Amino acid sequence: MLFGRYKKNPIKMADKGVVDWTYSTCGYCSTGCSIEIGTNAVGKPVASRGVGGADVNRGKLCLKGIFEYEVFEAIGRASTPLIRDHIHEPYSVSSWDPALDKMASEIKRIQATYGRDSFAVVSTGQILTEEFYTLGKLVRGAIGTNNYDGNTTLCMASAVSGYKRSFGSDGPPGCYEDFEHTDCLIAWGSNLPEQHPIIYWRMKDAMEKRRFPLIVVDPRVTIFAQNADIHLPITPGTDVVLQNALIHVILKEGLEDLDYINANTTGFDELAKEVENYDPTSAAKLCGIDEDTIRTVARLYAKANRAMSIWTMGINQSTHGSDGVVGINNLNLVTGNIGKPGGTSLSITGQCNAMGTREWSSCSGLPGYRALEKAEDREEIAKFWGIDPEFFPKKRGLTETDIFPAIETGEIKGLWLVATNPMTSMANTARIRKTLEKLEFLVVQDAYTDVETSQYAHVFLPAGIWAEKEGVFTNTERRVNITRQVTPPFEDSKSDMQIFNELAKRFDNGQKIHFPERPVDVFEEMKTLSKGRLCDISGMSHDLIEQERGIQWPYTEEHAAQGAKGTQRLYTQPATFCYANGRAKLIPLPFINNNEVPDEQYPFWLNSGRLVEHWHTRTKTGKIGNNNKFSPIPFMEMSPDAGHELGIKHQSYVRVTSRRGDAVVMVMLTHRVPKNMVFIPFHFYDCVNRLTLGLLDPHSRQPAFKQSAVAIEQVDQDYAARLSKESRTY
Ligand code: SF4
Ligand code: MOS
Repeated sequence: MLFGRYKKNPIKMADKGVVDWTYSTCGYCSTGCSIEIGTNAVGKPVASRGVGGADVNRGKLCLKGIFEYEVFEAIGRASTPLIRDHIHEPYSVSSWDPALDKMASEIKRIQATYGRDSFAVVSTGQILTEEFYTLGKLVRGAIGTNNYDGNTTLCMASAVSGYKRSFGSDGPPGCYEDFEHTDCLIAWGSNLPEQHPIIYWRMKDAMEKRRFPLIVVDPRVTIFAQNADIHLPITPGTDVVLQNALIHVILKEGLEDLDYINANTTGFDELAKEVENYDPTSAAKLCGIDEDTIRTVARLYAKANRAMSIWTMGINQSTHGSDGVVGINNLNLVTGNIGKPGGTSLSITGQCNAMGTREWSSCSGLPGYRALEKAEDREEIAKFWGIDPEFFPKKRGLTETDIFPAIETGEIKGLWLVATNPMTSMANTARIRKTLEKLEFLVVQDAYTDVETSQYAHVFLPAGIWAEKEGVFTNTERRVNITRQVTPPFEDSKSDMQIFNELAKRFDNGQKIHFPERPVDVFEEMKTLSKGRLCDISGMSHDLIEQERGIQWPYTEEHAAQGAKGTQRLYTQPATFCYANGRAKLIPLPFINNNEVPDEQYPFWLNSGRLVEHWHTRTKTGKIGNNNKFSPIPFMEMSPDAGHELGIKHQSYVRVTSRRGDAVVMVMLTHRVPKNMVFIPFHFYDCVNRLTLGLLDPHSRQPAFKQSAVAIEQVDQDYAARLSKESRTY
């Protein structure tokens, strides 16, 4: 018998009439795939393809990248500025000058009435690095509010905080190539195949060439967990307990790397004393992993010649997020696994340019990983921008998650949101809605008018999407890659940088500071400021970046002169960490159990996370045919055993209730979740975040999206189906 296409014609690709391909970097996730966008004879984007010579993706793209050319003209694209005086009135169409005049005068009125910090700014991980740097100049240098943050607080703040605590600076030390050298990999709270498909492919590719054990720590049986040699279905929020127990075993059995510890770290005795308390027998009761497995994993990791850890939101989105990152760093430091090929602690970031905002946006400090707390940093930047250093605050202001409560208490009266959608992305939707309604003035700047938060804005500014502009992104492995302009910003929208530049002219300091118009000139400023910093990019240029398909920082003028490649790894030499003594800190992590946990009234853990088809709040992927076709509606994973007990059928609707609110959602019965847990993807408006608590991490202020308690009940099916249809916007 013959199977397959034996007798059929070969597959023919539809001819889309591409006449030109433009180089770009994917605008979705932080994997940082090199992508080319094909345009037809009239300049319309009609196709995307991966770039073969690019080290990151080697010609491949995931489902999101493949259809990314469709986002340019997707429904909901914003074409013109909109303004109104009250949020209950319809918007009027405006031209740019009146909209920006209104914005500037409202900012000035609010600052004059309530103080400079009463106007807050929350940005994103989606815009280009040159735009981040420009926004930082505008907010820190001209508007002068200290309450300025990025939505990356919902996602990477714990990684940033943990890196700073352990190593003295942010900056992931490893790279994807580490998969090719490692002898053991632990993935903590990361569903790589769905969240970062191309990094997963790099890992699988490495594993096929040279088998190494894969250990996945995740309360769900994710696709990644199904592929693991050992799956550790941990009790939510107890990563620190497991980490302490692993180090306990390593020290008890003398498996630590004492030479490395002595040459590179401080704090070993304090750490050793703390982990004394976490013998595997007691730890097992807290973290849900049996003592034998804890010992096995500890031995595997410590005895491997090179071992590496990667992690994502399972660690970060927790009340112990920052500690969880420090715990991973502790584990790698005691086993001598930092800065070595295959021995590293690598955070897998979320958004395409979450790294760019960390490095250059001035959200939590000043450009180039400088700190507001350091007088010499403030003076250097003030001098470079030509303003008085006293204009800068002396410590960082509120994070996004503290800005919203400050609106509730009346401390903050005005807000500007740049490419972020808190109505869908933040915990406790009902509370966020009320908070936004309280604002005297809200500006939403986005590429799509139908972004849910625009319901509460007074001014809406239409922005260009990624490849309607030129500039760079930094990916998870510190690789700076470029997007060229495929097409000009849609209709009357402007690039984010043009918007920042236009607004700057309306402020006194904005006229003193130079705001270059061309992205290359902004990049030159950043290069100058980067010299001698950890994130040195002074050897790069836009053209060289495209030629190399991305370059990893640090990349100095000397690197460039020698024709060298970028820097694959940080901290490769002894005692080169960013603390003054060059040593990394081992930090003891006592476990305090402050999670909301299931009880009689709310007996299920509620977990949330990403799907491969969608990006964040679906402002883009919600409009794209194939992404939507594969993942059209929200759903809830529930174990068949739990469903059986409650009489709940596959594909029926249920009402899920927490202490915050309720949501009606369709059930998918699956063994992917344990009996006492449900999982709802976080992409959909008016769904999982109606339920989440989002308790904050004390160091990073990142919310614990993944640890809430809920109850589940049956609901009238006809009513629920109608409700579901009505609430679906597209
Ligand atoms: Fe884009 Fe990430 Fe997919 Fe690569 S893996 S194509 S960067 S969404
Ligand atoms: Mo995240 S790094 O803001 O997806």
